[in-house]
Amino acid sequence: MKIAVVGTGYVGLVTGTCFAEVGIEVTCIDIDKKKIENLKQGILPIYEPGLEKMVLRNVEKDRLHFSTDLASAIQECNAAFIAVGTPPGEDGSADLKYVIGVAREIGRSMNDYLVVVTKSTVPVGTAKKVKQAVQEELDTRGSDLLFDVASNPEFLKEGAAIDDFLKPDRIVVGIESEKAEELMRKLYKPFLLNGHPIIFMDVPSAEMTKYAANSMLATKISFMNDIANLCEIMGADVNMVRRGIGSDSRIGNKFIYPGIGYGGSCFPKDVKALIKTAVDHGYEMQILKSVESVNENQKEVLFNKVKNHFKGDLAGKTFALWGLSFKPKTDDMREAPSLVIINKLLEAGCKVKAYDPVAIKEAHHLIGDKIKYAKDAYEAVIDVDALLVITEWPEFRAPNFEVISRLIKNKVIFDGRNIYEAKELQELGFAYYGIGVQQVQPVTEMTN
Ligand code: UDX
Repeated sequence: MKIAVVGTGYVGLVTGTCFAEVGIEVTCIDIDKKKIENLKQGILPIYEPGLEKMVLRNVEKDRLHFSTDLASAIQECNAAFIAVGTPPGEDGSADLKYVIGVAREIGRSMNDYLVVVTKSTVPVGTAKKVKQAVQEELDTRGSDLLFDVASNPEFLKEGAAIDDFLKPDRIVVGIESEKAEELMRKLYKPFLLNGHPIIFMDVPSAEMTKYAANSMLATKISFMNDIANLCEIMGADVNMVRRGIGSDSRIGNKFIYPGIGYGGSCFPKDVKALIKTAVDHGYEMQILKSVESVNENQKEVLFNKVKNHFKGDLAGKTFALWGLSFKPKTDDMREAPSLVIINKLLEAGCKVKAYDPVAIKEAHHLIGDKIKYAKDAYEAVIDVDALLVITEWPEFRAPNFEVISRLIKNKVIFDGRNIYEAKELQELGFAYYGIGVQQVQPVTEMTN
């Protein structure tokens, strides 16, 4: 089997490398020459645990190739996966110019039957446009070559993408012919040894599945954030409520952790895009609109707690931020709640000292020198007015609070991810603010 994967971003690179890992001959293609040169030497454009080693191993075994030349790479391929970006336009709809551009190039250069697979998250109806684009190019060449389109959404979580790809819960494929179904089944067979299904369906349903999955997950998160905010007002503890409802198998215990709002490249973009698709077709997604606005508000919740604690007197204060990426185990800063919090703090005249295990380079790229970057977690808290936990990286879970007590100016922690126990911190003399839990003042202050 031989495939081409076009686009060496997050999805394309993981897809191409994992297919190579099971013995398929893969060429990953990108128009960015520098990126391709780097990849040939094992220098990756993104951070993803385990990916670098896997790239190098498969390049060495001569199963994984990188090229800027789509026309040559596509020859004799069984399938071409389109995994290029679909940046959101101002109105939230996905811009398809790269996807269609690639489809046209495939039509211009293919030399045998192949399946053109959309792997980027694309609006319902895109595969049809891809089909049209490829066909137009074939017609221009006067070629009667046959091809099929397929839609194969990805469900990779950043930070766990390799595992998700190698051991998927399910594979969803939208197809239009038995020939394409057979080919896709053969390609994915090595990944389905754990008994999980490959689900074939029509193309629009496959395209919709991706949006429905991400929108449902985003809904769970916004719902829990709403409940958490109410818990605080009513004197309930959302951690208890979460356990209480999560043990109901109909609800499930995953994706019901409240926090400072969801971020990343998928949830915000896909929720917006689905709302927009509906509007374009005369329908209103009422729940999703609320999911989005709850999320926007939630990104400000931690800042508001800081403001209340210091009674609005923030100018000139310095705050330590632990974590910058939108979630642990990634350097991805797209739509990260940290960006909103940093902005709010800077607007209020505060200084920020941030530490993140891997995202500092990315963050510097976006924020520049408006904030300071610390070399490690403890350096960040030296002499600051409070510590804000933004991303729940494992190394923040059990820090040495004695050391923090000595370094920090005010013993105050704002925990945006509920990773600490309020009671424990209270006993250590900290004021502690979580999300949806009772806010505590230090024991000493209370007894005074
Ligand atoms: C997501 C989907 O999980 C994946 O299937 C899809 O293909 C792409 O989008 P990803 O964006 O990598 O993956 O991150 P994920 O781990 O799903 O987290 C998304 C956001 O939700 C993060 O900001 C995270 O902090 C937040 N989150 C997640 C919560 O606030 N609470 C939760 O309980 C779970």
